Amino acid sequence: MSGQTAGSILLQMPLDSKSERSAIENAHRATLNILEDFAAEKCELESGQRATLNILEDFDAEKKRMAGAERAVLNILEDFASEKSQLEDFQHSFLNILDDFSQEKKQLEGTQRAVLNILEDFEGEKTKVERANGQLEREIKERKSAEEEIQRTNRELRAANKELEAFSYSVSHDLRTPLRSIDGFSQALLEDYADKLDSTALEHLQRVRRAAQRMAALIDDMLNLSRVTRCELHRETLDLSAMAKLIAAELQEAEPGRRVEFVIESGLAGVGDPQLLRAAMENLLRNSWKYTSGHPTARIEFGRSNEIDKHPFLIRDDGAGFDPRYADRLFGAFQRLHSAKEFPGTGVGLATVQRIIHRHGGEIWAEGAVEQGATFYFTL
Ligand SMILES: Nc1ncnc2c1ncn2[C@@H]1O[C@H](COP(=O)(O)OP(=O)(O)O)[C@@H](O)[C@H]1O
Ligand SMILES: [Mg+2]
Repeated sequence: MSGQTAGSILLQMPLDSKSERSAIENAHRATLNILEDFAAEKCELESGQRATLNILEDFDAEKKRMAGAERAVLNILEDFASEKSQLEDFQHSFLNILDDFSQEKKQLEGTQRAVLNILEDFEGEKTKVERANGQLEREIKERKSAEEEIQRTNRELRAANKELEAFSYSVSHDLRTPLRSIDGFSQALLEDYADKLDSTALEHLQRVRRAAQRMAALIDDMLNLSRVTRCELHRETLDLSAMAKLIAAELQEAEPGRRVEFVIESGLAGVGDPQLLRAAMENLLRNSWKYTSGHPTARIEFGRSNEIDKHPFLIRDDGAGFDPRYADRLFGAFQRLHSAKEFPGTGVGLATVQRIIHRHGGEIWAEGAVEQGATFYFTL
C-alpha cells in the first residue's frame, strides 16, 4: 500500500450504492480518527519514552550517588567498627581499672580499719600515759617534799655532827692531861717505891700504866679521826709511789729484823691533800706490816689495778687476812677482826683512812681471806 492511504483506497473502490458509500466514508473517518488518535498516542508515547529516559538518566545518577553514599556508609561503618573495637578495648581497660580500683578500695578499707584500730589503741595508750603521767607528777611532788625533808635532816645532821666532833675533840683533848698524870704518877710509884711494894702491887701498877697508854693511843686516834673531818683540804699532785717507798723505809728501819719485801710500782701520782694522803697510806701500809708479822717472810705491794674499771690504787699483803664476810666492818671506828693479843691496835685506823678517801671524793674497799692476805683498793 505504499503512497496510498486507506481513504484513497476507499475512493477508488466502485460504489454500488449510496449507503455503501456513506459506510465507507464513515469507516474512512473512523480510520482517520484512529490514525489521529494513534499519532497522538505515538506522540504521547514518545514523550513518555523521553520522560522514562529522563527518569532512567536520573535513576542512573541517583544510582551513582547511592553507590557513593553506600561507600561512604561502608566507610562510616568501617570507622564505626574500629571505633567500636576501640570502645570495647577502652571498656575492657576501664573494667580492669574498675577491678583494680575495687581491690584498691578493699585494701584501703583494710588499711582504714587497721588505722582505726591503731587510733583506738593509741587512744587507750594515751589515757594510760596520762594516768602514768599523773602518777609520776604525784611521785615527783612526793619525792620533792621527801628531798626537802632529807636536806633538812642532812643540815640538822651536819650541825649535830659538827657539835659532836667539837665535843669529842675537846673531851679527847681534855682527857689527855689527866691520863698523862695517871701514867706519870704510876711510873713514879714504880720507880720510887719499887722496894716498898710487893710484886702484886707492882703488877697492878704495870697494868694501870698499860691501860693508861692504851687509852692515850685511843684518844690520839680519835683526835686524828676528828681532825680528818675538821681540817681544810689542800689539793696537790702527789707522787704516791715515793710516799709509799718512804713509809716502807721507816717501817723497815723500826724493825730491821723482819724479812718483808716491798714491791712498789713507780711513778703513781694522785691528787690530794699531802698530810691526809700520807696518813691514809701510812695506816694501810702499817696494817700490812702488822698483819704480816705472824709470818717469817712477807710481801707488801703498792700499785694500781688494771683489771678493775676505775683503776684503783691498791695495797696488798700476804699476811693474816680476814673473814671476807666482815669486809665492810673493817672501816667502822673501833671495829677489829683480830684480837689485841694477836695484833695490838685500836680499830680506828681504817675508819680514818675511809674518811680521808671520802673527803677526796674517792671510794675504798677491801678483799681478803683468812691466812691468804688482804688487798685494800682506793680511788681518789
Ligand atoms: N692488812 C690487813 N690484813 C688483815 N686484816 C686487816 C688488815 N688491815 C686491817 N685489818 C683488819 O681490820 C681491822 C681494823 O683495822 P684498823 O682500823 O687499822 O685497826 P687496827 O689496825 O688498830 O686493828 C683490824 O683490826 C684487822 O682486823
Ligand atoms: Mg690499823
